[in-house]
Amino acid sequence: MVTSGYGVYVHVPFCARRCDYCAFATWTDRHHLTTAYLAAMIVEIERAVDDGLPVATSVFIGGGTPSMVPAAELMAVLDAIPRVADAEVSVECNPDNVTGDLLATYRDHGVDRISMGVQSMVPHVLAALGRTHDPDNVRRAVALVGEAGMRTFNLDLIYGAAGESVGDWEHTLDEALALDPPHVSAYALTVEAGTPLADDRPRHPDDDDQATKYELADERLAAAGRANYEISNWARPGHECRHNLLYWAQGDYLGVGCAAHSHRRGRRWWNVRTPERYTELVAAGRSTEAAGETLDEPTRRFEALELALRMRDGVPEDALDVDELDGLVVRRGDRVVLTRSGRLLANEIALRLRC
Ligand SMILES: C[S@@+](CC[C@H](N)C(=O)[O-])C[C@H]1O[C@@H](n2cnc3c(N)ncnc32)[C@H](O)[C@@H]1O
Ligand code: SF4
Repeated sequence: MVTSGYGVYVHVPFCARRCDYCAFATWTDRHHLTTAYLAAMIVEIERAVDDGLPVATSVFIGGGTPSMVPAAELMAVLDAIPRVADAEVSVECNPDNVTGDLLATYRDHGVDRISMGVQSMVPHVLAALGRTHDPDNVRRAVALVGEAGMRTFNLDLIYGAAGESVGDWEHTLDEALALDPPHVSAYALTVEAGTPLADDRPRHPDDDDQATKYELADERLAAAGRANYEISNWARPGHECRHNLLYWAQGDYLGVGCAAHSHRRGRRWWNVRTPERYTELVAAGRSTEAAGETLDEPTRRFEALELALRMRDGVPEDALDVDELDGLVVRRGDRVVLTRSGRLLANEIALRLRC
């Protein structure tokens, strides 16, 4: 797995409808800002290039819903980013917006990976999540990804929505695998502070139910040749997301657009949160940075271990006491890796890491 390089993240903060579990920086009433916002991102990139922006080995266009904005305008942003010839370029798409023309435009500008927000293949679960698509939309969108000749694609799934039975989740896994995805991300539905879901206790997910569903996902995906390489991510060999690998290896990246985060050699910073403020600051020739922090060496070392623990190759053997964590970790050569049960308790195990 390639874990070195330089990444660029591009944030598109617009959605057709707000999912009530989502805490990402995105808006449903600001589409009128789209053209000015995308143009401002080009200016931010051009300034970064003037300041010596490294050539990108991966670009991730995420959101929000990137597939909602005009493809040609979005690709003008991508075109402004200097990148190596074989850079991985991902775009997050909602099944509702995917058309053959949209994907052909993406592909012609170098997009080689689509990440599709599927979440579930069961209509009542999609309704409980507040999604606008149905399983047929997903099948149609994934067929178009194949026809467009993308190098690879991912399906994002969520488990633990209100009313989702274990049988529903098994159905989602089976239907997702029937689409032959090279990569699957499966996330436990998380209650994020400040979201409508946070105020609706009866709909909060149950830990035991989510643990059962995680184990089922790992069994089925692994049996189907998608190996777990990070707690919530499975891929066929060679289809791991290079951009995310860079994040997890504490690599350097630039975040472009509102609320986007950047990192360079231990310094992290993030942009202002709203698209209005972001566009105004760019127009005024001012910095879009909201705040930043520099990590001291011990914190950086600890974070490196925390991230490594979540990965397939784990941590060096002296970072954890294996005997204390029977059944949760195993020794593999000179590394210690989480078992399936250990992955469910990764945060607790991380508290025992020794730097
Ligand atoms: C921010 S969304 C952007 C992609 C696209 N708008 C979508 O929702 O399909 C990226 C992914 O984050 C995950 N996600 C967002 N909020 C979540 C939450 N509260 N719990 C678990 N996963 C979440 C979903 O799987 C989603 O596909
Ligand atoms: S479509 Fe994606 S980004 Fe938009 S509100 Fe829903 S989860 Fe959040």
